Amino acid sequence: MTTRTAAPSFDVTALRAEFPALQQLVHGKPLVYLDNAATAQKPREVIAAIRDYYEHDNANVNRGVHALAERATAAYDAAREAVRGHLNAGSTREIVFTRNATESINLVARAWGDANVRKGDEVLVTTLEHHSNIVPWQLLCERVGATLRAVGIDERGDLRMDELERMITPRTKIVAVTHQSNALGTITPVEEIIKIAHRAGAMVLVDGSQAAVHLPVDVRALDADFYVFTGHKLYGPMGMGVLYAREAILEAMPPFLGGGDMISTVTFEGSTWNELPHKFEAGTPNVAGAVGLGAAIAFVRRIGIDAIGAHESALLARAHERLGAVSGLKIIGTARRKAGVVSFVMEGIHPHDLGTVLDRDGVAIRTGQHCAQPLMDCLGIPATARASFALYNTFEDIDALVAALGRARALLG
Ligand SMILES: Cc1ncc(COP(=O)(O)O)c(C=O)c1O
Repeated sequence: MTTRTAAPSFDVTALRAEFPALQQLVHGKPLVYLDNAATAQKPREVIAAIRDYYEHDNANVNRGVHALAERATAAYDAAREAVRGHLNAGSTREIVFTRNATESINLVARAWGDANVRKGDEVLVTTLEHHSNIVPWQLLCERVGATLRAVGIDERGDLRMDELERMITPRTKIVAVTHQSNALGTITPVEEIIKIAHRAGAMVLVDGSQAAVHLPVDVRALDADFYVFTGHKLYGPMGMGVLYAREAILEAMPPFLGGGDMISTVTFEGSTWNELPHKFEAGTPNVAGAVGLGAAIAFVRRIGIDAIGAHESALLARAHERLGAVSGLKIIGTARRKAGVVSFVMEGIHPHDLGTVLDRDGVAIRTGQHCAQPLMDCLGIPATARASFALYNTFEDIDALVAALGRARALLG
């Protein structure tokens, strides 16, 4: 595991004050929010941007000629430009807004998959995947008669790259891989995976739902074919997802959903499609959500994704150190590169009971399978407890977690 321990280059205490949800008591205790891999809390400026949009600019986009419609369209376009910049995509034509990462992956599996994957072909995923990067591919494989295969992990939670190299064959049409595991924190070597896949003629979809929060992402440097993430983990609102895809791929893909906005012309004999990215955005979009996501990206970029990553690495190192010293506690997942997440089990205590007792102390963690049942099956455990970090977490939060674990052990152990 690589970690950095430098003091944060931003004022965490001042930043915490920007998050209203963090200011509350839970069961009479100050909230210690360590469930950021599930969703992050929202800074005031994101909430204000959404409210401001509804108070002043609310109108339907891309078609109105009145002032509000023009302002709403400009705000929607600006959000797309913010996402383009965050991913360093070449053009806003390559940025499709969706509801979440799950929808982005389903869009690719349906629109690209149905047109390009045939009987006898293979789709390669990994054991680390979230269900949303498994089930859409399973459905595709069932529809077309292809086979879904999964690359394994080693005992630390790193991908078995030798296995991956062996499993990518001329039959492999697409490799769908997480950039960072939500359950173990493992950062996967996507640059290398993309090179290997491209050499074999396979496409690559990267699920950046966790990574886009902790790491700088450059889709052009990665040479990713598809890169997806979800806005609510990046301090943005729920209901906003992103699909990046290279322009030529999107041009060649048939649409996903049909309806208003995605068309150029419609007759009863047939329809033609709007230009990118609108071809993939049927119906009235979540404009307020896009505005909120744009504000979240501006917020994150002002602090600096490298500074955020460094702070979270320090938190992770501290969490490993402190949790590693708790008797009867086993950390699950010690990958060479990991970020933001520490999963663990405690001898004799079910993670769910642990989570419930911690909640009474105001400590919010996640317990269960983390939407990664095949991973849990592979690890031979039913569930883990997971603490996950954001830019506003502190060493004191980790100390509070460890203290609450001690009380839970006294109660349940
Ligand atoms: C790695 C990963 N992929 C995909 C998702 C799905 O995100 P959403 O439910 O917002 O579509 C998550 C959410 O936990 C995730 O952690």
